[in-house]
Amino acid sequence: MKNPGLVPPIELSTVFPMTKPSSDRGFQYGRVGNPTRQLLEEKLATLHHAKHAFVFASGSAAILNSLLLLKKGDEVLHHQQIYEGTTRLLKKVFQPLGINSKSIDLKKVDLLSQNITPHSKLLWFESPTNPMLEVLQINKLCKVARQHNIITVVDNTLATALEQKPLQLGSDLVVESLTKMINGHSDAIGGMIATNDAQLAQQIKFLQHTVGAILSASDSWLIMRGLKTLDLRHQKIKNNKQKIVNFLRSSLLIADVFHAVGPIISFKIKHNLNPHLFIKSLKKIVIGHSFGGTETLIQQPTTMMDLSDNSDQRIDDRLFRLSIGLEQPKEVINDLEQALERANSI
Ligand SMILES: Cc1ncc(COP(=O)(O)O)c(C=O)c1O
Repeated sequence: MKNPGLVPPIELSTVFPMTKPSSDRGFQYGRVGNPTRQLLEEKLATLHHAKHAFVFASGSAAILNSLLLLKKGDEVLHHQQIYEGTTRLLKKVFQPLGINSKSIDLKKVDLLSQNITPHSKLLWFESPTNPMLEVLQINKLCKVARQHNIITVVDNTLATALEQKPLQLGSDLVVESLTKMINGHSDAIGGMIATNDAQLAQQIKFLQHTVGAILSASDSWLIMRGLKTLDLRHQKIKNNKQKIVNFLRSSLLIADVFHAVGPIISFKIKHNLNPHLFIKSLKKIVIGHSFGGTETLIQQPTTMMDLSDNSDQRIDDRLFRLSIGLEQPKEVINDLEQALERANSI
């Protein structure tokens, strides 16, 4: 019987009875395919205007599966500021397996072609970057990579498909952590790879069920529910963010404000303020990892991020990263204001 409900069910069965032993129509086994998971994959593919999307147990698992396209001797070129977990995978997991990586300042597009060697097989970047929100020229970088038969992967977690669709700008794969804006409620972890390339899709599908880091049916369902309000949350966060940016820009206690698309604002407090006292004095804003949820979160990159491979001189104790939530912006502004004043009072 077809599901009679408005909301799709969570398909928990791991076994799908077959009509004959060799039958390969429909679903057979939960790791290989699951209707709830497939429904989420179809919705995400639509969002990215992609032919194919695959979901994984986390954004990190999606990153891992895209890097597994590489073989020994291949080289990854990446922007100098990428997600710390991607750097860890490249340095601690792939380098010992003979897959090297090179960090480049991709804000200068010319540096890409200057660094390409016969070993370069994959280009990896995020735009905007985290935490400094640098914006890269996605289409120009993809064009250079394509001329050299290099696969481009864009981690689009921060912007989401609502702000930019990297596949339409020339990237071969787009990777996202669904844990952030897409689910948006800080209660499920997931990741996605989307592509329009049939051959890459076949390889990713093979890796998805062979490596087995799949997204569970329950989390697929939760993330699908989050997806229903993505547009609404995105609009509210964008409005809140603008008001908070305006406040930070007008504050005499703030030295610098960085923002681009997505839910994040980074800012630096002035030299005479005590950074420890500032963050400790926040009453409403929660100190926490992650971004894109319903609550406003704050992070101090120097104490809460692994910056061992990050050479950006602007990142010091006075830099903070805010992930804007759905609260009334005035509540967040009032909290920032009182904490800044306390940090300035000594
Ligand atoms: C840009 C980016 N990509 C990927 C990930 C990894 O996602 P997950 O935590 O779902 O593994 C993160 C996590 O913070 C991230 O910030």
